[in-house]
Parts: sequence; C-alpha cells; structure tokens
Amino acid sequence: MPPLPSLHVTTDAISALDVDALIVPVFRGAIEGPGTEQALRAVGIADVPRDADFRGKVGEVRHLAAPGQAWGRITLVGLGRLDELSDEQVRRAMGSAIRDVATSARTVATTLALTNPSASTLRAAAEGTILGAYRYDDLLGKARPHVLTDVTFVIASSTGASADDALTRGRAHAKAQCVAARLVTQPPNLMGPEEVADAASELLPDDVDVDVWDEARLEQEGCGGLLAVARGSARPPRLVRLRYRPTDPVARVSLVGKGITFDTGGISLKRPSAIMEHMKGDMGGAAVVMGVFSALSELRIPVEVHGELCLAENMPGADAQRPSDVITIRGGTTVEVMNTDAEGRLVLADGLALAAESAPDAIVDVATLTGAVARAIGKRAIGIFANDDDLLRRLLASAEDAGEAMWHLPLWEDLRDNLDSDVADLENLGRGDEAGATMAGLFLREFVDGLPWAHLDIAGPFWQDADRYHLPRHGTGVGVRTLLRWLDPRDG
Ligand code: BES
Ligand code: MN
Ligand code: ZN
Repeated sequence: MPPLPSLHVTTDAISALDVDALIVPVFRGAIEGPGTEQALRAVGIADVPRDADFRGKVGEVRHLAAPGQAWGRITLVGLGRLDELSDEQVRRAMGSAIRDVATSARTVATTLALTNPSASTLRAAAEGTILGAYRYDDLLGKARPHVLTDVTFVIASSTGASADDALTRGRAHAKAQCVAARLVTQPPNLMGPEEVADAASELLPDDVDVDVWDEARLEQEGCGGLLAVARGSARPPRLVRLRYRPTDPVARVSLVGKGITFDTGGISLKRPSAIMEHMKGDMGGAAVVMGVFSALSELRIPVEVHGELCLAENMPGADAQRPSDVITIRGGTTVEVMNTDAEGRLVLADGLALAAESAPDAIVDVATLTGAVARAIGKRAIGIFANDDDLLRRLLASAEDAGEAMWHLPLWEDLRDNLDSDVADLENLGRGDEAGATMAGLFLREFVDGLPWAHLDIAGPFWQDADRYHLPRHGTGVGVRTLLRWLDPRDG
C-alpha cells in the first residue's frame, strides 16, 4: 500500500501556499458561494467562467487553469447545496477531489475551511481525503503513478488543538478502513487463511496479541464449523485470536469476523452466472475486524477488545462436506449442513461460541453473510440484527455519525422453527420463509449464550465495482469507521 498523505491545517493566505494543486469546494448553484470567490481571487482568478456543465453537485470535479501561479491549476469540487450541508457531503466532496488529483499532484491545499468548519466537519474532510488518496496498486508491475504526500486545509482562524485532533482521528479511522479495503481486494491465490493470519501478525501494532490456531488446534478445541467448511479446500483453516488490552479498560467487547477467503459455494456450487470473482471478498468481515484492530492503540481506545477471525476457503474438493452432513460446533451444538454455500454461519458459530466463553459486555460479528440482505435494503447499506436494544441504538448512531448507511432488520421469533432439524440440533439453511438474511441472523443468535450481540451483514457494501465519492472501487472497508466510533467513548 503506498503511504497515505500527511494532513495539515494552516491559517496562511492561499496565495502564500506553495503547492502543486489547489482544491476549491463550490456550493451547488452558486459558484461564488461562501469562500469560493475569495479563494479564487486570492489565486488570481477574478472572473470564473460560467459553465453550464458544472453545477456543483456533490463530488463533481472541474479543472481551471491558473495562469501565472506557481502551482498552475485549480480543481473545483461540488459541495452540493449549502442548505443541505452535512459532514457526509464534505467527506464525499473531498474524496472525489482528492482521488482526482492524487496521481498528478504531490502537494495539495484545499480552501474547504473558508466555510468555517467545525471539528467534526474537519474530521470528515480528513476521512474523505485519506480514502480518496487510497488505491489498490500493490500488484502493478509498472511504475506507480501515486504521488500525493501532503494535504493542507486552509482555515480562516486557528482552532488550535481541536483542529489537529480532528485531522489525526479522521486520518486514523480512514487509514484503518483502507487496511480492510486492501485485504478484501487482494487476489484469493495470494490471500488464503494462512496468508490472512500472517497478515494479522505482520500489520497489526505490537500491542495487539495475535494467537493463531492451526488445524490441529482447531481439532483439539472442537471447532467443527471451521474444519467442516475447509475440508473441500487444499488450504487448511485458521482461527486468529486478537487481543487488545489497554490499562484500566472501561468495558470489554468481542468482534467476530467471517473470513471465507474464497466462496465457491462448495458442493452446493454457486451458479456460474453468479459473479464469483466478488467472492474473494468473502473475508470482508474479518478484514473489517483487522482494520479496527490496526487503529485501537493509535486512537488510545480505553476498551478491551477481543477479535476472532474465522478463516477458511470454501471449495468443492474431493473431501468436501456434503449437503446433509452433520457437524459439531464449538460448545457441542450439532448442525445438519443442508447447503454448503451457507458456510459463513458455520465458521462464525465457532467464533461466536468462543467469544461468548469470556462473557464480554457485547459481541459484534461482521460478515458478508447473505445475498438476501442486499436484495432487501440495497447494496449500499449494512443490515444490522441485534438481541439488545441499547447495543443496537448505539451502533446505529455510530453508523450515522460515520456516514455509513445501516438499517435494522428483524429476528422474527416466529421463523426460528425453520432452523429445526430432524437429525441435529439445528440445520444451517432455514428454508420456508424466504427471509434469507433473517434466517442467518437467527442461526448465529444460537451461539451467543444470551449475551448482548449484534450482527452486521455487509454483503451489500463490502464491494463496489466503481469508485464512488470517497469509497474506492472493489473492497470498500465499510464498517470500520462505524465500529471505531462505537468503541471510542469520546464519540459516544
Ligand atoms: N458469501 C455468500 C453471501 C454473499 C453473496 C456475499 C453475494 C456477498 C455477495 C454466502 O456464503 C452465501 O453463499 N449465502 C447464500 C446463503 C444461502 C445458501 C442460504 C446466499 O446468500 O445465497
Ligand atoms: Mn456461501
Ligand atoms: Zn460466503
């Protein structure tokens, strides 16, 4: 991953800045909106050409030549309507503008701050900037065009420490999201269960303990879900146990991530028409958990956080599990595997059971669990299921603040008997009511021992085919910023 840019604030005059490019945010419908005219005058552009094609829609980008200036060009970016201004509009505008300039400018300044940003707006701008600067170029053989090293926010009056703090936190949250996005985008031949476990040891800071359970250990510990799913693959499963222990923690929580490094469906093979290459991202939940852990110490989060990454590859090999096999999950629950493509809930069952054993204050799992969730609420939103109203409310509020769409979905009690099996404690499919995402949630709930728990189904937003505002194409890392805000009492 190329280094992400450093962020700065300044109260210097724009004309005094020595940068390669200047970004000037513009409100919709008024190119002379607050700050814009002043910013352009300061760089010698008195007469802005009216352009019917540029309307200032959020994220819309337009280049202006800046003759006679050392840095040569100005990038206008739409901020949307002034009367609708939100942190998310700023995050989106900065993401679009920075992605546009990041491969051609080394140093950039933006006048955003002439609209007098609050700390929270500055933080959103920092998030948009870092995400806009990210791209997945690890495997490009040719010279990488990525050059952006420094972004300076020009603010009208110094807000001192609070501005620096906003930039630091925005940068840390966005950088953690980039860690997750990159893991999702990595090709599956290079990122099997062992490689993800290695990545956890390599990229997480020293104060995160990383304990990796191999196949023999999983056998000893009775993790039958992970072992069953991995049987069809030449690559063995792994359970990665992460521990972050600050001094005097105010709470203790556990994060569990689905880490299927490739999902073919197994013997219940996915139809060829399914866009199977997206299934390299079926470890998106584990990637989100890793992203969160990458930032905990930097943010000095005062909460003890445990992580369980449930890693396996779901392949239809000669020793693969069969539909109707019965397996035993950690803790002894037996499951009749009616469909081997419902594999995520099997590996998560082991992870949730393990998480529940230490009785944390809350358990949150993150998983690319069902196609059904995206059909219900669309590809941009996280579906949330929970057995605890307070936990649900706090996660929804954190998602709102982070600008990550999240929608509450039901765990209908009435549907629970669809999971009854004639030969085992449960079956993994739960047919009959077509509520695919809910059935998966009800299945997972069986393993949390009644503790406060929430399940984030990220099967929609974990991936997108094209860049959209601050969110990069392919793996997006959506979920990381919500969880970091939830974990940080300063954001509460
Ligand atoms: N990994 C998939 C879910 C998925 C689909 C994630 C599309 C992202 C995009 C999961 O393992 C799966 O195959 N789910 C099945 C469940 C079914 C067999 C009950 C599904 O959604 O069809
Ligand atoms: Mn599957
Ligand atoms: Zn899957």
